[in-house]
Amino acid sequence: MTSISKSLASSALITLITFGATTANVASAGEPADCTLPSDWFTDPNGSDIPDPAELAWEINSQTKCQFHQWSWNAFLWAMQGVGDDLLRFETFPTMEETVNSNWNPKTVREEVKLSLRAGKTDHPIDSIAQAGTSGILVAQNNYPVYYSQHINPQMFEDIAGQGWTNAAGIAAAPQDSLFEIGDVEYKAAWAVVSSEDDIPGAYTRMASIPELTSSTVAGTYTIHVPENPTYNTKRVALVGLHIVGWVNGHSEAVWASFSPKEIAPIVGQTKDDRKPDNVVTETAGPFIAAGTTVADCNQAQTPVQRLNDDGQTLKLTTQVCQMFENGDRLPQDQVNNDSVNQVNASAAELVPSGLAAAGYSEVGAVWSNIDDENEWSLIQQKKLNVTFQNQLTGSTVLSNPVIETFTQTQAGADNCLTCHNSLQFQPSNPSIDPLKPSMLNLSHFLMQIYVDTAKGVDKK
Ligand code: HEC
Repeated sequence: MTSISKSLASSALITLITFGATTANVASAGEPADCTLPSDWFTDPNGSDIPDPAELAWEINSQTKCQFHQWSWNAFLWAMQGVGDDLLRFETFPTMEETVNSNWNPKTVREEVKLSLRAGKTDHPIDSIAQAGTSGILVAQNNYPVYYSQHINPQMFEDIAGQGWTNAAGIAAAPQDSLFEIGDVEYKAAWAVVSSEDDIPGAYTRMASIPELTSSTVAGTYTIHVPENPTYNTKRVALVGLHIVGWVNGHSEAVWASFSPKEIAPIVGQTKDDRKPDNVVTETAGPFIAAGTTVADCNQAQTPVQRLNDDGQTLKLTTQVCQMFENGDRLPQDQVNNDSVNQVNASAAELVPSGLAAAGYSEVGAVWSNIDDENEWSLIQQKKLNVTFQNQLTGSTVLSNPVIETFTQTQAGADNCLTCHNSLQFQPSNPSIDPLKPSMLNLSHFLMQIYVDTAKGVDKK
């Protein structure tokens, strides 16, 4: 470098710094200096000013990471608002069964949601990805497994039903350029059995029907599962994780966000020293961790030695849950994103009225593609079809929710949402079901599960 260009460069740097110092709202790469939620969402303590995220979904213009985190919070707040009979809005939304039968009715008063077992992928018919290490059941410190439920928003229900994607034949016939609509949202909720309303600080609780479990030997392996016609018991459950996946303007791959009660699991640092096997992660016991847990004991599924107790409800071994990447970020690479998530969470902590169910939660992170496809099919086809998005991720690039993707947090090829949710050809594990061609629809396991379940129905001879 010549001395002239050197001095030009340094004066440019000085200008930049001065600019940064005098213009309060400009930080690195166009990010606002402080990523906050708009205070006018919270003028009513009951949350009636929280806008419908389908509206904000049109306003994203991919200029900043902050916008995506604001949208994620908007979608979460809206989903968590109380409606009708003390249910949260997302709980009243269509389930897979209601979608397959196209019988969701917005006026339905749901008495008790039936939950399924939250287990690793080997239990699930739609598994088409490497299975190593993912067959575990997450067991809380009270020895109960964690259960889950899935929903889609009414707009997405109309979208799916309107296109005839409620059965395998309809899904297989979808044209290659099919996309989900801006404003469509999918949810996956994780529920832990608790004995009282304040067992898990900050968590929303409700009553739910929990199936009794059974064990049997499947292909020579001891397996814990939900029997075909289970006995249900009513238990109090706490919402310990909520995935929110929403389609926003220019992002046909969706924004993949996740929320949990604040401090649901201790966060393990990312230096070599932090990750030494005998390092103690926490001295304090929590709902998903024992005091004194070491890095080596974090997130072990213990599948081969796990056993069901005689009550058909509790398991012998508990899981020690650790969050391996703060805000879903690989540090220091994702520092800008890390700051944005910290800021937006701090803003929510300050602004969300304490009477709202969302008040006890924080964003674990959100991930999406760095390519704004401008809703152009040719660009989507070129960049986003038939890919896993791994070389175009931005936001929280190693995002897992510690109580939903517990066992895959550090697994290469499964350490973020889009590794498993992508636009590659979909290959059902049951070889008698035809694969589906690469499609942006394949991102949705809700749809893929409908495909497998209804194809199986046809297949049963
Ligand atoms: C290891 C693979 C894997 C990873 C990683 C993963 N998922 Fe999933 N996801 C699944 C499977 C399989 C299902 C289907 C339901 C089930 O088996 O639990 C699913 C279901 C869902 C659903 C509901 C159904 C749907 O339409 O897709 C949502 C929402 C979801 N995941 C969001 C996320 C988010 C957000 C992340 C990242 C924080 C994530 N997933 C990471 C495998 C994965």
